[in-house]
Amino acid sequence: MTVKITWYGHACFLIETAKAKLLLDPFISGNPLSPVQADQVAPDYILVSHGHGDHLGDCVEIAKRTGATVVSNYEIHNWLVGQGIDNAHPMHIGGGFDFPWGRVKLTMAQHGSALPDGTYGGNPCGFLLYLETKKIYHACDTGLFYDMKLIGEEGIDLAILPIGDNFTMGPDDALRAVKLIEPAQVVPMHYNTFDMIKQDAPAWALRVEQETSAQVTVMNPGDQIEL
Ligand code: NI
Ligand code: MN
Repeated sequence: MTVKITWYGHACFLIETAKAKLLLDPFISGNPLSPVQADQVAPDYILVSHGHGDHLGDCVEIAKRTGATVVSNYEIHNWLVGQGIDNAHPMHIGGGFDFPWGRVKLTMAQHGSALPDGTYGGNPCGFLLYLETKKIYHACDTGLFYDMKLIGEEGIDLAILPIGDNFTMGPDDALRAVKLIEPAQVVPMHYNTFDMIKQDAPAWALRVEQETSAQVTVMNPGDQIEL
């Protein structure tokens, strides 16, 4: 069984298996690069890494319209319940859960997580997804941290890493992250959405492929890859 991964720009990805459609960090209506409208997506689950608007995005509207279950840390979960979201699954960093379609483990991320109204959003996270026979690490917003090496010990088929700099790792640290994680494949994200995070992704891909054994795919918003 293949796992299909579609990039909606920024940190937003649709990941589809035969069993479920997962939408990660659904920043769609405010996202100048999004190839879709928020009312066109119909995920079964929404995964939210932290409370910032460019990740929480259209989560509340999509969850209310579709009934999708939202997976997030406990603090964001409580806020979502207060927003009238009935289907929400709280987790926290280091914890994993076996959903009917695969396993999710929350990983640490070096970042902030305040919600749009200023509510404390707990610690930000990344996602380690075990789907079919594949392992995907979506790092979300983070700086470089040495424990990425521990995540790499899981044997990562695809690492989705921010390269935009300013708010997250930039190209140099993202290259060091690939060296720590040693994934088979890499997709860069969280760049070019705004001027402040403009990067040359093809140039970064060249560096990664010269210095590591990982294969890099530079996606355009709307592109899909299969694992
Ligand atoms: Ni953020
Ligand atoms: Mn962000």
